[in-house]
Amino acid sequence: MMNGERIAAAGGDTPGAAGRTLRFQRPHASVPQFTNSPTMIVMVGLPARGKTYISTKLTRACAVAALQDVCEYISREQGQVVVFDATNTTQDRREVILNFAKENGYKVFFVESICDDPDIIAENIKQVKLSSPDYAGCDKEEAVADFLKRIECYTMTYVPLDDTKDRNLSYIKIFNVGSRYLVNRVQDHIQSRIVYYLMNIHVTPRSIYLCRHGESELNLVGRIGGDSGLSSRGAKFASTLGTYMRGQCISDLKVWTSHMKRTIQTAEALGVQYEQWKALNEIDAGVCEEMTYEEIQEHFPEEFALRDQDKYRYRYPKGESYEDLVQRLEPVIMELERQENVLVICHQAVMRCLLAYFLDKSANELPYLKCPLHTVLKLTPVAYGCKVESVFLNIEAVNTHRDKPVNVDVDRDPAEALETVPEHI
Ligand code: F6P
Repeated sequence: MMNGERIAAAGGDTPGAAGRTLRFQRPHASVPQFTNSPTMIVMVGLPARGKTYISTKLTRACAVAALQDVCEYISREQGQVVVFDATNTTQDRREVILNFAKENGYKVFFVESICDDPDIIAENIKQVKLSSPDYAGCDKEEAVADFLKRIECYTMTYVPLDDTKDRNLSYIKIFNVGSRYLVNRVQDHIQSRIVYYLMNIHVTPRSIYLCRHGESELNLVGRIGGDSGLSSRGAKFASTLGTYMRGQCISDLKVWTSHMKRTIQTAEALGVQYEQWKALNEIDAGVCEEMTYEEIQEHFPEEFALRDQDKYRYRYPKGESYEDLVQRLEPVIMELERQENVLVICHQAVMRCLLAYFLDKSANELPYLKCPLHTVLKLTPVAYGCKVESVFLNIEAVNTHRDKPVNVDVDRDPAEALETVPEHI
């Protein structure tokens, strides 16, 4: 599902969505027999019930992390996970979907979002619907009134999933953005993972702060990996980070580190409790641990080029790939979804993976995301995405970012292989 292979979801609450021709992307042109069926997640619910929010989260989770193994399983079987985001509130429409699924070999899992809390609905309309092009230049109150009318039209024909009549279908009903759930007929591992994921996400306003440890002794000399302590500038960053976080005035802040000295030393300077996660440890560079990029080129030129050719999938001999890392981080991501305000003090490769999940970046972009030292990225979930604020804490540090060089051939000139290596002592 990475690499832009995401599956288009048709729908959303666009005018005239009800009764419109269904626009699915067929997984296979005409394949009558299926041994392992791909999964179609079908959203159900009136407009402004958070369906697009849920489907966006699901699509992102399938693409990056939380359901990664599910997607791998599916792609191994040459199938896909499809998220179909539309109101799908009539029985007829769901019948059409079920028939399509049958003919095309999908297993269908319905996700119905039910909300009768007027405050939640009003907030949803204000936050997401009014920014749609339909209401560009419209008066706010008039736009809300118009949207409520639109909801009324759908309400007339809306038939919720029926716990008796639809007992053979697989579904989850989410009441009032997660205050209650009803789960029916979970058919397989994929569906149980979807349920687990949906029961962990929440919409409480909060921020996630991501940063790397303070500059380390090994960073200074351009060596990757290892378990060194902080440089003097790194220690300065740690205490400045404490001042910055106190300035955020968050009473319930959780602080997470890896098991590595440099993140623990950084957290110690904050003077608050913190939790250590082994899963947050930096990518394991295997036989290249503690080498400089120049030394890797010298001793393992072919490996160095192979990594440049496909940095996301490349696995260091006796070490890890970014793909492995994404998988290792799945429990961290799930817990981040459950928590409210969290500061994660981690490492360059780990931070890229977490950032890619929240910003919906592809596998190609992920290993090149810029996560400089001594910079905090404050992520605040908004509508269907995340607002990002990048705060450099004004303590100088070495640059550890190496861009993809132009020439990635195994027989390239060493100078070409090293042209993007950052400066170090
Ligand atoms: O250089 C610092 C570091 O955190 C290393 O420990 C790690 O191997 C590297 O960054 C990851 O970055 P890249 O994947 O770009 O080599």
